Amino acid sequence: MSGNCAYESPEMSALLGGTLRPGGFALTDRGVANCRWNVDDLLLDLGCGAGATVRYLDQNYGLSVVGLDPSQKLLTLARKNNPDKEFLVGSGEAIPCQDETFHGVLSECTLSLMTDLNATLQEVYRVMKTQGMFFITDVYARNPEALEVIKTHQFTSCMRGLYDLKQLRTDVTRAGFEIILLEDHSELLKQLLVKTIFEFGSMQEFWLKTGGACAAGFQDALKMCKPGYFMMIARKVE
Ligand SMILES: C[S@@+](CC[C@H](N)C(=O)[O-])C[C@H]1O[C@@H](n2cnc3c(N)ncnc32)[C@H](O)[C@@H]1O
Repeated sequence: MSGNCAYESPEMSALLGGTLRPGGFALTDRGVANCRWNVDDLLLDLGCGAGATVRYLDQNYGLSVVGLDPSQKLLTLARKNNPDKEFLVGSGEAIPCQDETFHGVLSECTLSLMTDLNATLQEVYRVMKTQGMFFITDVYARNPEALEVIKTHQFTSCMRGLYDLKQLRTDVTRAGFEIILLEDHSELLKQLLVKTIFEFGSMQEFWLKTGGACAAGFQDALKMCKPGYFMMIARKVE
């Protein structure tokens, strides 16, 4: 993983105050309500970052959550913030857990960073029990025709991995899941962008401070894609 990831920067953490995604816990609460997890269930937070959701679900819902992330930097923070919780180093493409371990998997603003989405979907399917719920929130392109341009930029950010929602629905279904809820929450991304511009002066300044040199044209490519934010809940079927 590159050393220049916006989500690893202290500026990002200060901007978002714990979670590293648009909307904080608003969608996490919606996810819990719709996934109907029980107190005895074991969940996996795929791409747990600094462990904010692991702590939130324990304190507010009594849910047991194991965190997984490839970033040693973020895992160090996660362990410091949650000394009594289990955190694993690893990636979505190769989850270091036994088959059918979890009643549910959360992926909050993380799936867009996977280098191999289909391998990750297969892994999530493998480690989940049948009927388990997969909760995803992430960025997508409301204008997917412009996605080709953005992929040409070498830049580590979930904004480079915007999804074509139609394609994602196909991939998730093909991996063995039934999509039971799909909602647009683009207003949460908009709120975050406004907050970012207010704090940093401009998006360009934000990218420069948090992600290293932002390639010329990246912002224009991003605008063409019309970034949005979605929440998806999918159930593992046999
Ligand atoms: C935008 S942050 C979101 C973190 C956390 N889910 C949250 O909302 O606070 C993206 C996270 O995905 C992790 N990540 C990047 N590539 C990954 C991969 N291949 N597998 C699993 N996690 C990954 C990053 O290290 C980072 O913690």
